[in-house]
Amino acid sequence: MKMQYFIQGGDFSAGGRASTEVKSIIKQFNISPEKIRRIAIALYEAEMNVVAHAFKGKMDVDLRPDHIRVVFIDEGPGIEDIDKAMEEGFSTASDEVRQMGFGAGMGLPNIKRNCDEMLLSSVPGKGTRLEIKVLF
Ligand SMILES: Nc1ncnc2c1ncn2[C@@H]1O[C@H](COP(=O)(O)OP(=O)(O)OP(=O)(O)O)[C@@H](O)[C@H]1O
Ligand SMILES: [Mg+2]
Repeated sequence: MKMQYFIQGGDFSAGGRASTEVKSIIKQFNISPEKIRRIAIALYEAEMNVVAHAFKGKMDVDLRPDHIRVVFIDEGPGIEDIDKAMEEGFSTASDEVRQMGFGAGMGLPNIKRNCDEMLLSSVPGKGTRLEIKVLF
């Protein structure tokens, strides 16, 4: 089963909608609450990174009997140093983003903790691609 969502950069009021929708869809399948929780956390953090740091993006969901794979592709500033971005506490969030309650630098480490596979790549000045896989 495939689904695709558009994510608008800077729109904190709609931010989280796509991941919330996927959560309610996967709840209808025979997936353990623990897995659903892990998927929901990873997708929410990834979606909010597009909202907080990029101009716009899309989220492609591929739901299979034994796993879920989700790819986020955005147009934005990209990430200069991926290793640094993965560190707990590292954030380049603007004051505006911090006022919305984001910018602790915990999103990417949290995604890593909650999925089975994570692939992060970026072209600075162009955008970022994040692929997340969770096995059921
Ligand atoms: N999609 C993205 N586009 C551009 N930069 C990104 C993107 N995702 C992450 N980053 C960069 O990686 C840093 C770390 O991301 P991470 O999600 O861990 O923390 P944060 O978003 O700053 O804060 P938090 O997630 O705790 O609210 C960000 O501050 C930003 O510099
Ligand atoms: Mg984040």
